[in-house]
Amino acid sequence: MCGIVGYIGDKQAAPILLDALERLEYRGYDSAGLAVRNDEGIATVVKAKGRLKILYEKVDGGRTLKGHIGIGHTRWATHGEPSEANAHPHISGSSSEDSLVVGVHNGIIENYVELKEKLVKNGYEFYSQTDTEVAVKLVDFYYSKFKSPTKALSKAMMRIRGSYSLAFLFKDHQEQIWTAKKDAPMIIGVTKDEAFIASDVPAILKYTQDIYQIGNCEMACVEAGNVHFYNIDEEEIVKDTEHITWDLDAAERGGYEHFMIKEIHEQPKALKDTYNSLVKDGSINLAKSGLTPDIIKGISEIRIVACGSAWHVGMVAKYVIEDMAKIAVQVDLASEFRYHCPVIKKDTLAIVISQSGETADSLAALREAKSKGVRTLAILNVLGSSISREADHVLYTLAGPEIAVATTKAYSAQMLICYLLSIEFAFVRSEIDSAKYQYYLQQLELLPSSVASILEDKERIQWFASKFSTIHDAFFIGRGIDYAIALEGSLKMKEVSYVHSEAYAAGELKHGTISLIEDGTLLIGILTQNRLFEKTVSNMVECKSRGAYLFAIAAAGHYNIEDIADFTIYMPNIDEHFIGSLAVIPLQLFGYYTSVIRGLDVDKPRNLAKSVTVE
Ligand code: F6R
Repeated sequence: MCGIVGYIGDKQAAPILLDALERLEYRGYDSAGLAVRNDEGIATVVKAKGRLKILYEKVDGGRTLKGHIGIGHTRWATHGEPSEANAHPHISGSSSEDSLVVGVHNGIIENYVELKEKLVKNGYEFYSQTDTEVAVKLVDFYYSKFKSPTKALSKAMMRIRGSYSLAFLFKDHQEQIWTAKKDAPMIIGVTKDEAFIASDVPAILKYTQDIYQIGNCEMACVEAGNVHFYNIDEEEIVKDTEHITWDLDAAERGGYEHFMIKEIHEQPKALKDTYNSLVKDGSINLAKSGLTPDIIKGISEIRIVACGSAWHVGMVAKYVIEDMAKIAVQVDLASEFRYHCPVIKKDTLAIVISQSGETADSLAALREAKSKGVRTLAILNVLGSSISREADHVLYTLAGPEIAVATTKAYSAQMLICYLLSIEFAFVRSEIDSAKYQYYLQQLELLPSSVASILEDKERIQWFASKFSTIHDAFFIGRGIDYAIALEGSLKMKEVSYVHSEAYAAGELKHGTISLIEDGTLLIGILTQNRLFEKTVSNMVECKSRGAYLFAIAAAGHYNIEDIADFTIYMPNIDEHFIGSLAVIPLQLFGYYTSVIRGLDVDKPRNLAKSVTVE
C-alpha cells in the first residue's frame, strides 16, 4: 500500500530513488513522484500518473533532477483517484520551491477531514483530495509555530489518528530527511557517506543489509552517514541495527520473466529452509518462539486470524491440527474478527498468519486477541514487521522476499509451519507416538522434491492454460483440505488472470451454484483425500452431465478418475495431511500462465497491492 523511499549522500539522488521505487512498485502502482533538492537548496517535485516507467521517462531516468537529497513515492490510491495532483510528494506551500515542508506518506489518516477544517481556518488551501496533503500541511503548521522538526512532528503525531509512515524534507534543514511512523512500515539504512529510507528491505538491499527499524510513534532525522531517533516526547533514543540475511539476488528476477514464476520455482527452497530452521536432529524445535511444551499442553482452543491467501493457509491448518492434535480450531477473517465480538476462551492460542506482518486487519485482530488476554503467535515472513513486535511468540517462514503481488512461496512456507505446529502439538499432547512423529517429519522432508517434480511438468499446465485462456468463469471444488486448496486455487486464478472464479466445498454446489454450470464451464476438482474421493467425484459427475469440462487434480493411484475427467494431473505420493501443498502448485501455475497468455501484468495485477496496510 504505497512505497516510500529516501536518499541522502554523495551521489545523485534521483536515479537511486527511481531504482528503489522500482523494487517497491509491488506496493502500489497507480502514480509515482519524486522530490529532489538541488545544491542551491531548491526542491523540485515531479509526479506522474500511472506506472513508475512514466515518471522514469519524464525525468529521463533521473538525469533531469539534480541533487543529493530526495524522497520518492509509489502510490496505491486510498483518498482521491489516481491522478498527478493526488500523487505524492505533497507540498505545504504554493510551489515546491517556497514550501517549508515536502512529504510522502504510506497509510491512512482517519481524522483528515477534521484536521483539514482546522488548517483551512488557519488559511491553508488544498489542491488535492488526499489525506497526505493534510499531514504535510499540519506539519507545516506546527513547524511554522515551533521552528523545530521534532516538535512539529511530535505535535502532528499527537493530532493524527490512523496509520502512517511519513518522510519529509524541511526547507530549513537542507541536509536532513525526517521520518515519523505509526503502524506502517519504514526502515532506515546507513552507510559511511549515505543514508536510505524505505518501506521495505528490497529497496535498499543493494546498499546495505544492516537496517534500523523505526518504532511506532517514533521519529528519525536521517543524514548522510548518520541517523538520530526520537520518541514522541522528543527524547533521543538509541537503536541497534538488524542484519538482513536476504541478498540482492533474492529480490531480483534472476532470468525469470516474472517474479511470480520465479517465486513459484523458489518453493522447494522456501520449504527446505523453513523446515531446517525449525527441525534439528529429527525433532521440532520451537524454542526460538518461546512456545514451551507446558504452554502447548495448556492450549484449550486455537483461533487463526488472517487475510486472503494467509486465511486459506489457516483453513488447511484447521483440518490438519484438528485431525492430528485434536485441538478445536476456528479460522476467522482478520477483517471480521473484531467486528463480531469474538468470544474467546481462556487458554486459547490466537495464531496470526501474515507474509508482510503489516496487514492492517491482521494487526488489528492480533490486538483484539491480546485485549482479551490470550496468548498470541504470529507466523510471518518479514523480520521486524509491526505484527512481529506485538505478538507474544513469532515463527518466521524463510521464504525470502516475496515481490509478486500474488503470494506463492510465502503461502507454501506458512503451510509448512502449520504442519510442524500440528505435529508438535499432537506429540506434546500425546495424540501421536514418536514413531508417528518421525513418520510425519519424514513425509515433510519429501515436500521440496515433490514440489520440484510437479514444476518439471509445468508445460502441461501451460498448454492447458492456453486452451482455456479465453474462459469467463471457473469453478474450483473439493472437500476438507481439498476445499481449502480450492479456495487458494480460485484466488490465484482471479487475482492474476481476471477470470471470474469461485471455490466451493464440493457438497455445496447443488445448494445453488450448480445452476451456473452450462456447456463448456470449467470445473476444477481437487481429489487428494482418499475417504472423500468418491464423494467429490460424484459432484464432478453431476456437473459433467450438465456440460462442464472437468480438470482433476488427484492423488496418485486414483487412475479411474480419467474415466470422467477431461484433463488430469496426479500428485506424487505423500501423507494426505500434507498433499495440499502439492495440489496447489498446478493451480498457481494455471493462474500464472492464464494471466501471461492473456497479456496481463502478472506481478502487479490491477487494483491490488502486496501489503494491505489499510482496513
Ligand atoms: C493473494 C495474496 C493476499 C495476501 C493477503 C494477506 O495472493 O497475496 O491475499 O495473502 O493480502 O497478506 P499478508 O500475508 O501480508 O498478511
